[in-house]
Amino acid sequence: MAVSTDFAPPFKLIVPYFLLGMLFYLGSIMYLFGIDVSNLSQFSPTTLSLIHIFLLGFVMMIIFGAMAQLVPVVLEVGHFAVELYYVIYPLLAIGTLLMGFGFVFSPVLLPFGGVIVLIAMGIFLFETLMTIQKVKKLNFVMKTVLIANIFLFFGLLFGIIMALGYGGIVAVDITKYLISHIFLTFFGYVGITIMGMSLILLPMFWLSHSFSWKSVEYSVYSFIGSVSLILFHLLFSNNMALNTGYFLLLLSVGLYLYQIFVIYKTRVRKEKDIYFKSLVFSYASLFIVLLLGISYFIFQNEKILLVFGWILLFGYIGNIITGHLYKIVPFLVWYQRFSPLIGKQKVPMLADMVPQLGATFQFYFTVFGVILCGFGIGIEMNEIFYSGVSFLFAGGVFMFKNLLFMINFK
Ligand code: HEM
Repeated sequence: MAVSTDFAPPFKLIVPYFLLGMLFYLGSIMYLFGIDVSNLSQFSPTTLSLIHIFLLGFVMMIIFGAMAQLVPVVLEVGHFAVELYYVIYPLLAIGTLLMGFGFVFSPVLLPFGGVIVLIAMGIFLFETLMTIQKVKKLNFVMKTVLIANIFLFFGLLFGIIMALGYGGIVAVDITKYLISHIFLTFFGYVGITIMGMSLILLPMFWLSHSFSWKSVEYSVYSFIGSVSLILFHLLFSNNMALNTGYFLLLLSVGLYLYQIFVIYKTRVRKEKDIYFKSLVFSYASLFIVLLLGISYFIFQNEKILLVFGWILLFGYIGNIITGHLYKIVPFLVWYQRFSPLIGKQKVPMLADMVPQLGATFQFYFTVFGVILCGFGIGIEMNEIFYSGVSFLFAGGVFMFKNLLFMINFK
């Protein structure tokens, strides 16, 4: 992370993102106790509320916090105005709560929450785009950052349009915008960002080198093709475009997984630490998601889609994020607290700053939780689902405790 250190944002600016993100994660798990899997629908207000609390409060919150640190690493320039990050997290937290509440109890509140989220993300987009502007020549990963941010912008606009429709303020055909919204925000922003960042982070933590990047490049192109076709479908209601769009999305995931396999094969560091385990579980989940995605493409069955969504969110995204926290947080704390002491006194190693036992508990509880809940959803049995949620909750509590341990490491 040599280049990052010159432009590193203050630690106290990033901490609230990680703490709030983990609180939203715990909140989403508690929310799962209120879900009835014998009667689960993708479009029920509870599902929509839960998905936004998880995606905005946990996933986007932590991605933004990590971006405060990573944008300068990737772009090799300092932030345009890093202070703006002090306003993003409170707005995002308030907007997310209003949206979560709005979906279930008061659809009129939804556009208000949506606009607050839009302002928070607008500030993030503005800051990131102004920072990108300082770069003379964009490399591949920088381009992924740019594309992902453009997707997010349009995806949020569609979100607001749907929220106005959901709140009964304007008459719109929500289903028309829904697929584009999901493709632009979720696959487009979250997916491409994770793809781009993993290309920086995985080779760095696993010390992989001299491998070809071709596979992930094709994956990103395939993905852009997919989103373009989905937008074409939005404008011209063309089913062939829609199906080809789905196909290209699955192809893109397959190519990305192959790239990860290549990086994994060329790694020099063979340590099986908590980061490694979390990533293996996370990518195994993505592989299952790919298989479920293919099955859904063929059979169009909602049950498959629900299990697909579950493993994608809590298996893949959840673990790739928590796994990275075990690397990113110790680095930030170490840089802030111990790097000035080098040469003056003995400083800890990064690995010493991770609570090993707590991390092991967190990992296994989460793995059991994800698997049990997946079965519970698949066979529509609440008892199995809730026992899975209990495991997940225990894993989440350990994660929160581990995070506090790393942040307060003296
Ligand atoms: C301004 C912020 C946002 C607003 C106002 C918004 C609004 C909405 C609305 C109204 C729906 C439901 C449409 C329906 O009735 O079926 C929806 C669905 C969805 N949104 Fe958002 N959204 C926002 C941000 C996001 C972001 C950032 C993501 C992803 C990171 C996201 C992911 C999704 C997903 C996955 C669904 C589909 C859920 C399902 O089918 O169960 N949204 N959004």
